[in-house]
Amino acid sequence: MSSAAEHADNWDLRHEDFNDNDFLYEVYDVMRQRSAFAHTDHPFLSATAGGAWVAVRYDECYRILQDWQHFSSNPTPEGAEQLAGDLVITLDPPRQQKFRKVLNPYFSPARMKALQPQIRAETDRLIDDFVQAGRGDLAQVAWRQPGIVFFKYLLGMPTDDVPLCIDLTDTALNGETEEARMGAWGGLYQHIHDAVTARMSQPARDDMIDVLLTAEIDGQRLPLQDVVSNAMLLVQAGLETTANAMSFAFHHLGANPQERDRLIAQPDLLPRAVEEFIRFAGSIHGIPRTVTEQVEMSGQSFCPGESVLVNYAAANRDPAVFADPDKCLLDRRENRHLGFGAGVHRCLGSNLARLEFQIGLEQVLERMPDYTLAPDAEAVFHGSSVTRGYRSIPVVFRPGQRSAA
Ligand code: HEM
Repeated sequence: MSSAAEHADNWDLRHEDFNDNDFLYEVYDVMRQRSAFAHTDHPFLSATAGGAWVAVRYDECYRILQDWQHFSSNPTPEGAEQLAGDLVITLDPPRQQKFRKVLNPYFSPARMKALQPQIRAETDRLIDDFVQAGRGDLAQVAWRQPGIVFFKYLLGMPTDDVPLCIDLTDTALNGETEEARMGAWGGLYQHIHDAVTARMSQPARDDMIDVLLTAEIDGQRLPLQDVVSNAMLLVQAGLETTANAMSFAFHHLGANPQERDRLIAQPDLLPRAVEEFIRFAGSIHGIPRTVTEQVEMSGQSFCPGESVLVNYAAANRDPAVFADPDKCLLDRRENRHLGFGAGVHRCLGSNLARLEFQIGLEQVLERMPDYTLAPDAEAVFHGSSVTRGYRSIPVVFRPGQRSAA
């Protein structure tokens, strides 16, 4: 195993040493202490021949996110090859803002809140699968709930297709090999493509596919490819991030029963606890920006075409901003975390994510209030990937009744 200092010289998020998540944060500590910007030969997403810069301190990450004129979300030419279509996340204003104007109302707090009963019922159904046994795997709740909600209630996929779409998404995100992952993305793309095409000849419904199909940007409807690609982006952006953070929370509360009891006794703490889990879990470790013109920040010069990864996870543990950054403090008050980003690309789905997360916690704590990590089985953390979180969280608890869901 290499030392934290060696890893900090050339950070590679996919390195197997980072299956130890605490060790990864030790490496970020070293990187942050050395400089605001590290360099890596191993960027993921938006690759360039020269590697990429990595912003690891809060202040610089925040400033980059505000300065889209110098730090564009357009990919590098190599990165663009991996993309199909005009995606909201890889555009800059003003076109990006026009996309957001179409999509924002769909994700408004009021609209997401209306989904509350459905999200609760779906969460209950997942818990029903094992609640009578007195033991189960909470990763099943964390990883499946956001997918079911998304495909069934937001994309409006036919209900029969939902299990297949969720399986394909699971493989696309967590498949063992690159080939399996790519194959599953291809399958999912085709599936969503077919669903969108079918909907073009059907009466309008009030869901995500309709929003994208009827959107007019600069007086023109979106081409079919952009409709499908943006629907896929939403799947990618919304599922693994929420699932990861939720898996951290379930694990943390199972390992710390006094914290679990505190949340049960003080449910008013839940919204703050959700924010803290999002800060602490570090769902996103680097989204790239491409430098548009020569610019300097904190003594570092950047040249046009260079790639800069904004490391939200490292920024969210910056001791200059967060007291006790490596502690998960459920009642943390000052918590201006960058978990949902900042600036023009700030997360579109944050209202949905918070709701799914809070309801996931509420139902688990209500229906298995005494749950703890199973003493005879290990939780499995999958770290050497962009998708980082617990893939298995075996727990034990006093058996309960199935719900009416
Ligand atoms: C805990 C869960 C989530 C986290 C931590 C998260 C995090 C983020 C972050 C950091 C960004 C900024 C990306 C950038 O700066 O380029 C972002 C953007 C985005 N997120 Fe989320 N997200 C979450 C859940 C969701 C959900 C549930 C959805 C939708 C269903 C979603 C959809 C998006 C989209 C479409 C963007 C791009 C917005 C734009 O480019 O204008 N996210 N998210």
